[in-house]
Amino acid sequence: MKVWDGFVRVAHWTLASSVILAWATHEGGGRWHEWIGYVALATAILRILWGFAGSRYARFAQFVYAPKTTLAYAGSVLKGLEPRYIGHNPLGGWMVVVLLLTVTASGFTGWLFTTDRFWGEEWLEELHGALSNALLPLVALHLAGVIFTSWKHRENLVRAMFTGKKRDPSATDVS
Ligand code: HEM
Ligand code: HEM
Repeated sequence: MKVWDGFVRVAHWTLASSVILAWATHEGGGRWHEWIGYVALATAILRILWGFAGSRYARFAQFVYAPKTTLAYAGSVLKGLEPRYIGHNPLGGWMVVVLLLTVTASGFTGWLFTTDRFWGEEWLEELHGALSNALLPLVALHLAGVIFTSWKHRENLVRAMFTGKKRDPSATDVS
């Protein structure tokens, strides 16, 4: 069945490549780094807006679960009994929120650093660096979650982020 709409898919791969390229070009700032950083920032903001207006599985209301539900899900993962989710699972959903906010904050502080008002402020440079550094373990955890869930439910989630399609739900899946 169709799960990820076109906007979600294009936004994901734009976000992933721009964040990786922003990282690769960060040395001393520079034009390339700034423009690539703006692409990441714009994509994250648009994806956040799409989270209120997009198709069913793109919406935060669909995949951001209450803390209690999320903890219960984490417990079931530890026991190896977690159900398959058609959209983002509760842990994945929170990871999506954290990733989007961290990319936004990183891009925003990068931009602030170039404004006359804040140019050369050391605390801002450090904050920009700290937020960008935080993205590394978060993305690593994101990839670990994707690989684990793909293996657990015998489903290639990376391919699904390209095609938008996932296996139809069975009776025990959460759709
Ligand atoms: C490097 C920076 C990356 C960032 C910031 C990032 C961020 C995100 C975000 C925000 C989502 C939610 C998608 C949405 O609902 O719009 C997501 C989902 C996903 N990402 Fe990434 N991603 C990154 C890299 C990658 C890479 C390199 C891969 C795989 C090769 C990947 C695979 C996936 C998959 C499979 C999903 C869907 C997860 C699910 O089925 O619930 N991501 N990612
Ligand atoms: C999400 C996107 C971004 C990421 C992942 C990122 C990452 C980084 C990293 C890791 C550094 C090195 C920090 C340090 O040395 O402590 C850096 C520096 C810098 N970034 Fe970004 N950045 C992003 C967006 C932006 C944007 C949008 C701008 C400006 C328009 C920008 C401007 C700068 C500048 C000027 C520096 C150099 C500061 C210096 O002189 O050392 N960045 N960035």
